[in-house]
Amino acid sequence: MDGFHFFSEFAELSAQDQDLIQLARKASNSSYSPYSQFMVGASARLDDGRIISGSNQENASYPAGLCAERVALFHIASSYPDRSVDSIAVVARRANDTKFKPVSPCGICRQVMLEVELKQNKPMRVILQSADGRWVVSESAQHLLPFSFGQDSL
Ligand code: THU
Repeated sequence: MDGFHFFSEFAELSAQDQDLIQLARKASNSSYSPYSQFMVGASARLDDGRIISGSNQENASYPAGLCAERVALFHIASSYPDRSVDSIAVVARRANDTKFKPVSPCGICRQVMLEVELKQNKPMRVILQSADGRWVVSESAQHLLPFSFGQDSL
């Protein structure tokens, strides 16, 4: 799979990527997920080294809720519009479990990640854990959304 790097052990990841994952794990604590009990954390490293995190925020009107990745990315776009995002890590766990489980960004978040890349004209690395437990680093959000819809399609 071109554009993806796989790591069987957490310790094999770079120190920077490990740090980002740990911060995403911390961010999952602020998840507001009374409906799904699924706590997601996302942390993004900006080009100036700053790290911005987000967690999923749900609502009694279910579609009004927002995924952790978009909370973090929209926060970055609105508060640091001149910065670019180098990497984003996403993790999840069930509310009654301290152990983290593999999670992969939903389709809408992938679409938003793609727009971030187009806007900054630079790839954004995406760090996640695949279903088989391996860590995956995608060199670009683009690889997560083949045959995508973008501004060129309009
Ligand atoms: N969720 C995320 O925050 N990110 C994802 O990539 C997958 C799903 C959230 C949305 C909802 O609050 C809960 O997880 C269950 O879908």
